[in-house]
Amino acid sequence: MNRRELFKGASALGLAASTPGFVSRAVAATTSPSVVAPVASPRQVLLLNKGWRFFAGDIPFSPIIGHDATYDAAKAGAARGAASPKFDDSAWQPVTLPHDFVSFQPIEESGNVDQGYRRRGVAWYRNMLRFEPQDDGKHIELQLDGVATFATVWFNGTLVNRNWSGYNSIYIDLTPYATYGDQLNSLVVRVDAEAMEGWWYEGGGLYRDAWIVKRNPVHIKTDGVFAHPVKDEHGWHVPVEVTIYNSGDKTETVRVHTDIGDEKSPAGTRPGGTKQVSIAPLGSTVVNYDIPFANPHLWSVDTPHLYQVTTSLTSETDAVLDQVTTHAGFRTQRFDAQKGFFLNDQPVKLKGVCLHQDHAGVGTAVPDGVNDFRLRRLKSLGCNAIRFSHNAQSKELMEACDRHGFLVMAENRNFNASPDYMAQLEWLVRRDRNHPSVFLWSVFNEEPMQGTPAGYQMVRRMSSVVKSLDTTRPVTAAMSGGLFTPLNVSHAVDVVGINYQQGQYDPFHAAHPDKPMFSSEDSSALMTRGAFVTDKKAQVLASYDDEAAGWGETHRDAWKQIDTRDFVAGTFVWTGFDYHGEPKPFNWPSNSSYFGIMDLCGFDKTAVHIHRAQWIKDKPVLGLVPHWNWAGSEGEPIMVMACTNAEEVELFVNGKSAGRQKTDKYEMNRWTVPYAAGRIEARAYNSAKVVSTVINETTGKPVALRLTQDRPALIADGRDAQPIMVEAVDVKGRTVPLANHMITYEIAGGAIIGLGNGDPISLEPEKGNRRSLFNGLGQVIVQSIEAQTGTLKLHATAPGLKPADLSIPVKAGPIPQSQPTRA
Ligand code: GAL
Repeated sequence: MNRRELFKGASALGLAASTPGFVSRAVAATTSPSVVAPVASPRQVLLLNKGWRFFAGDIPFSPIIGHDATYDAAKAGAARGAASPKFDDSAWQPVTLPHDFVSFQPIEESGNVDQGYRRRGVAWYRNMLRFEPQDDGKHIELQLDGVATFATVWFNGTLVNRNWSGYNSIYIDLTPYATYGDQLNSLVVRVDAEAMEGWWYEGGGLYRDAWIVKRNPVHIKTDGVFAHPVKDEHGWHVPVEVTIYNSGDKTETVRVHTDIGDEKSPAGTRPGGTKQVSIAPLGSTVVNYDIPFANPHLWSVDTPHLYQVTTSLTSETDAVLDQVTTHAGFRTQRFDAQKGFFLNDQPVKLKGVCLHQDHAGVGTAVPDGVNDFRLRRLKSLGCNAIRFSHNAQSKELMEACDRHGFLVMAENRNFNASPDYMAQLEWLVRRDRNHPSVFLWSVFNEEPMQGTPAGYQMVRRMSSVVKSLDTTRPVTAAMSGGLFTPLNVSHAVDVVGINYQQGQYDPFHAAHPDKPMFSSEDSSALMTRGAFVTDKKAQVLASYDDEAAGWGETHRDAWKQIDTRDFVAGTFVWTGFDYHGEPKPFNWPSNSSYFGIMDLCGFDKTAVHIHRAQWIKDKPVLGLVPHWNWAGSEGEPIMVMACTNAEEVELFVNGKSAGRQKTDKYEMNRWTVPYAAGRIEARAYNSAKVVSTVINETTGKPVALRLTQDRPALIADGRDAQPIMVEAVDVKGRTVPLANHMITYEIAGGAIIGLGNGDPISLEPEKGNRRSLFNGLGQVIVQSIEAQTGTLKLHATAPGLKPADLSIPVKAGPIPQSQPTRA
C-alpha cells in the first residue's frame, strides 16, 4: 500500500491522517514492532451496559459505484453507513443494557404467534468507548453475553464478528484496532431478529450484559479454567486445566497457580497446584495439574456447598499478571439403568421443570433479582432440577443454580454438526463445565432426524466434541420419536431423554435394559391461572388439571408414570413458568403459553399445589382450590380439589363435612358440592391428627390495593430488581380472586422496568405504568438506580379503590465498574 492509499484508508476509517493516535500506531507498526511491554496488572472486568444508542429498523448500506469507492469499501477499517465510526447517531435512542427491544414492541395480530405476536425485525446499536493511554498494551476483549438473533459487530470500522445464534456469547479481541486517549472507539452491532431459532419468544437485541475485559497480554483465556472435582479410588481430587494465551510479542514465562477454599478452609490453607510454563507470542498453552482434596463438604440439591477456585498467573518477579475465580462443588453423579439417578451415591428422583428464559414485563432481559425469585419459587415446589430448554442461559443464572442447588440439564440450541454450530456447542461446554449444577449435556430437542442414521452420525460427532471437553457428565438428547429404528440417536447418547411418549417407557426399557433413561419432557398440561371454568371461545382453561396438549398428559398422569418406575430417572415438566409465545392450543389474541406450573409472573396455578403434594416429602403440604367467590351460582355444583401429601383429607363447606377421603397421591382429592357463600376448609390428617388446614373464604368486594415486595431491600447498583405483587383486597384484607382493575403506578427512587399479570390473552403493553390485574393479581418489576440510595417508593391507584404505597430501602452496595463511554 503506497502513502496515498494509506491516507485513503485513514479517511475511510474516519481518522484524519494527522490524528495522533492513527499516525503513532501506524509508525509503531512499521518501525518498532515491540513497543508494547506486558503490563503487570490483574484483569479488569468492566460492564459495558451504558452509553448505547439504539435504532429500531434497518439502515441499508448505500450501493457502491465507481472503482475508488469499491476499492476503499473492501478494506479493513472501512465500514460504511451506520457501521462507520463517523456515523451520526445523535438522534438515536439512548438505552442501557440488558435491552430486549422486542419486549417494547406492540402485540400485533400480524406478528408471529410463537414469538408472542411481537414485531421483531432488524435493529442497530452503537457505542463509543474510551480507553485510557495506560490501557495501551493490555489485551482488550469485548464480551457480548447474548445478542438475538443474528449479529454483525464492527469495531472502529472493521467487521470483527458475525454470530449466528442468539444464545451464545461473543468474545472479540479488540486490541489490534483499539485507540487510546481522546480518540474514542466506535462499537456497532447490527442485530437481525427477523431470524428465529425457536418456536417460543426469543426477544431481540443486546438482551444480556456486555463487558470489556482488560488483561495482561499473557492471560488466562476466557472460560479458560476447568476445575471440576472428581472422586475415584484415590479419593477426591480436582483436575485443573488452565488455558493461557500470550497476545504479546515475546515469549513469556509464568507461574500458574490454583488454590481452592471456602469460608472454613480459606484458599491457601490446603495444598494447591502449581506449574511454570513458557508461552510463545500469539501462542496458547494448556496447563494441567491435579489437586488432591481430603474431606470436602459435598454439594447437593439440599446443601449446595460451593468452593472458590482461584487461579493466578504470576511473573518471574512474582507480580500477579492475571487471576480468575471459578466455583466448584464436590459431588458424584451416576445414572443407573435400573434405579435412576444417584447424587453422592444417594438416589435422587429428578423432579424437574423445563424453562424458557423470559419473564413477564422484561422479556428476555431478566434481571438477576427476578431469576433469583423464579428459582426460589421453583424450590418451594420441591423442584430439584431444571432443563434449560432449548438453549444456553446467562452465566449469572447458571451460577444461581449452583447456589440454590438445582441439577441442570444444559441444552445446545442448534442440531448441526458443521463447524459453525460445533463452535456453539463447544462454547456451551467450555463456559458451563465448572458448574456443579450441570449434570447432563443435551445436544438436541425433538429433531426429525432422530430416528435416522444421519441423526445418529451427527450426535456421535457432537457427543465427541462434548467429551473432548468434559467426560464427567453424560450426553443426552430429548427424543420425541425414532426410539426403535435400527440405527437412531439413542444408540449414540449415554442417557436417553424421552419427550412425552410415556407408553414407550416399558418397551424401550425392555429393549435396552442397560440404557439409562429419563423423561426429558412431559405433561404440557394447560391451565389459566385463577380460572376454574373452561371457556374455549374466550380462550380460558380451568385450573383443575383436566386439560393437556394432544401429545401430553395432565400433571397428575405424567408424574404417576414416572414415579411408579425406578428406571425412569425423573421428570422435566413442560414448563415451570408460562412464557411469551406458543399459546397452544390457541392463537390470537392469546400470546403467552398455558403450560406453566406457574403463570408468566410466577404466581401459583393449581399445578403448584399438585407438584408440592407429589414432590415434597419432609413436611405436610396442603393446597385447596377453587376460590370461593361464586356469586350468582348459589346451589350449583362446584368442584373442589385438595392436594396434599398427608394420609387423609376432609373438606368442610360452611362448617359441615363434605366427606373425609383417603389421599390419592396421584389423582389428588375432589368433591363436588353445591355453592353457598361462606367458606370451604380442607383439613389434612396424618395418623388421624390434623397436620394442615387451608380455608378459602367468600370475600367482600374490593376496597383497596395491596403491594407486597419479594425481598426486604434493593442494592443501589442500577441492576438489582425485584417483582412486587399487586392485589385488590376486601375490607378484611382478603385477596379478591376475580378483581381485574386497571392499576396505575407511580414510582420515585427507582424505575419500573416491566408489568405483568399472568393473563395469556392480555394485549396491554408490559412497559409503562399501567396494567390491569388478572384474576386478582398483578406484578410490577422495580429496579434501583445506580448510586441512588434511600427509599424506593411505589404508589398504586385504581378507580374506586384505596391506593397502596410501598417503601423499599435501597442500600449502598458494590457497584460493578463500568467501561467509560461517551455518555
Ligand atoms: C414439545 C417441545 C417444546 C414445546 C412443547 C409444547 O414438543 O419440545 O419446545 O413446544 O412441545 O407442548
